[in-house]
Amino acid sequence: MKTFYVTTPIYYVNSHPHLGHLYTTLVADTVARYKRQRGFDTFFLTGTDEHGQNIERAASAAGRPVKQHVDTYVAEFQEMFARFHLDPDHGGYNHWIRTTDDYHKRGVAELWRRVRDAGYIYKGQYVGLYCVGCNEFYSESEAGVGPDGKLICKLHDRPLEQLSEESYFFKLSAFQDRLLEYYESHPDFIRPEARRNEVMSFIRGGLNDLSVSRVSVKWGIPVPDDPRHTMYVWFDALTNYITAIGYGNEDRGGEAQFRKYWPADLQLVGKDILRQHTVYWPAFLLAGGVEPPQAVFAHGMWLSGGRKMSKSLGNVIDLDVLRRHFTPDAVRYFCLREMVFGQDGDFTYEALIDRVNADLAAGLGNLSSRTLTMVRNYCGGEIPAPGPATPAANDGLIAQAAEVRETIQRASTEFDQAFDAYNFSRGLEAVWAAIARLDKFISDARPWDLAKEASQRDSLNLVLHTAAEVLRHLAVLLAPVLPEATQAIWEQLGESGKVSEITPSKLQWGERRPGTQIGEVKPIFPRLDKKKVMEEIKPEEAASQAANAQGSGAHATQADATGTASKTGAPSSAAETKPLPQVGASEAEAVPGVAYIGIEDFAKVDLRVGQVLTAERVPKADKLLRFTIDLGEGQPRQILAGIAQYYEPEKLIGRKVIVVANLAPRKLRGLESNGMILAASVGEEGRPVLAGFLEEVPNGAKLK
Ligand code: MSP
Repeated sequence: MKTFYVTTPIYYVNSHPHLGHLYTTLVADTVARYKRQRGFDTFFLTGTDEHGQNIERAASAAGRPVKQHVDTYVAEFQEMFARFHLDPDHGGYNHWIRTTDDYHKRGVAELWRRVRDAGYIYKGQYVGLYCVGCNEFYSESEAGVGPDGKLICKLHDRPLEQLSEESYFFKLSAFQDRLLEYYESHPDFIRPEARRNEVMSFIRGGLNDLSVSRVSVKWGIPVPDDPRHTMYVWFDALTNYITAIGYGNEDRGGEAQFRKYWPADLQLVGKDILRQHTVYWPAFLLAGGVEPPQAVFAHGMWLSGGRKMSKSLGNVIDLDVLRRHFTPDAVRYFCLREMVFGQDGDFTYEALIDRVNADLAAGLGNLSSRTLTMVRNYCGGEIPAPGPATPAANDGLIAQAAEVRETIQRASTEFDQAFDAYNFSRGLEAVWAAIARLDKFISDARPWDLAKEASQRDSLNLVLHTAAEVLRHLAVLLAPVLPEATQAIWEQLGESGKVSEITPSKLQWGERRPGTQIGEVKPIFPRLDKKKVMEEIKPEEAASQAANAQGSGAHATQADATGTASKTGAPSSAAETKPLPQVGASEAEAVPGVAYIGIEDFAKVDLRVGQVLTAERVPKADKLLRFTIDLGEGQPRQILAGIAQYYEPEKLIGRKVIVVANLAPRKLRGLESNGMILAASVGEEGRPVLAGFLEEVPNGAKLK
């Protein structure tokens, strides 16, 4: 049997689960269901990352033993995922790994020994800067400067810790060429393409050896044969993907299970942890003689109101509120449809309600109930055989029915192609186009009129047979995306068993047993009253934000608009983000003809200082220059600008520019542009003059 192994990142247990965590897990869940339905022996892994200084400190701040602290969070994560039906009882993940599990510790120790015995680990002295929030080491050039002149982590805005201690090092530098060769020979290893390019240019910039142990951190896995040291959390955490399926331990199925599922087919991660998964992880594996995974797909970040979701900004989506008002199916559909997989997406409750009403209630739900109600009312609850249309009265009906049938079959193929490429929104678009086509077919054929004339019985049967068949195909096709709703449609159609177990390619048109009665017809997706739901949500959200602002919430994982997530170890205070006092438009004299905006509108635009690392012309595009720009995010961004007629690319290298960092990515000439460089537009021809600074500014500094 073909196998498929899909993983999510394992989540830090120093923050409550939020929409970001839910998102990756529900995408993995959808992929797992999709593969299972297509006959793959599928293994879906998720879990929690429980070691490290950050967690040790959070537990001590909470005044409880670390294990007890992490247990509480793990229970909360598991319960929340169950409420969204991602748990094994609802057909979700196969296993939840905890890095505090004994089998995992044994497996990690085994990989360490192999890497060490192959000569890739050596002992030295680490002197440098470390951020406990990111669990990352930084060089001085990567650090920011705080108001007091201290070097700070740019993601967390807090001082970096100066470390000087004995440490084991991993010879990452030895892997520069091997990794580049690996990416060349495995073009699908890093996806999407833009991320692959980013990683390759990062590696071409040179790799330093990595400190992989700490003597000052106790809450971690001891280094084999030198227990004074604990392992670097990323070495420990990344290895979960193999220990969970038996690497280095018998508890999880040992060698046989490991061989069965490894290399993983798909490792889903947010783009905030791209480097760890596409540089460190394959290097650790190659060093230990283990094949790297087949694909790492880095998806985008959920934003709220165009800004990073963070507790301090008060725009985190509270999963309790979300679940109270929306079914797991509605949330799944929205997340998969609204966000182009790989790009950032904005989350609003309004957009979610609109999607539910338009696509689910008025779309699929209405199609199902109108079709089945007519079968009940006009055909005694039995889906009719497809009688030939009455030629004189219904010119063209047969041709239309055939076209509808072809449409759903084509949509089915497109859905599979898109899902195989992890382009979920496109797959769903294809299916919803077929739903619209069927709706039109029914409206044009007017079965309610046909039902009035005995002579039109054959036409009526053809219309309702076609509609019910399309519905049956839709239920099977959409089962991985809408597990509950499709099962309900399946049962209302009078089908038995689980729709998730029907292989779409084996479906035959018209194969229903004659005489099968439909089930009870019930609404699948009730329409939401937008005004009423929003009125209910607003105070609930406000209450949850107020609770967070008071610090009763734990420490959020904050993903900013640029996709770099900051993983804070300390509760953020609302005061951090208060804008500086401004003179409001109401206090100043209004200038006629100026359409004023409030400070909150301006705050939506994330302007950052960037530095041009590379600049080149785009072949066959006279106006375009392609840049890679360092915004202080770790990985440079690719940005395109239409200034080729005015600037020599070589002369721009090293120049500091101003970038709109949260502009939605878009494609120009097939290349993704992730931001916009600001320039003045001069004279009638609109000659661009790049904006810049007269004084030294660090990359990534925010303009406000
Ligand atoms: N523990 C590490 C991962 C170790 S994997 C071996 C970690 N944990 S985390 O709790 O911070 O989770 C990060 C992941 O959560 C992201 O990579 C992404 O999958 C998900 N998300 C967190 N915030 C997100 C958004 N705002 N939007 C989408 N997903 C995001 O990093």
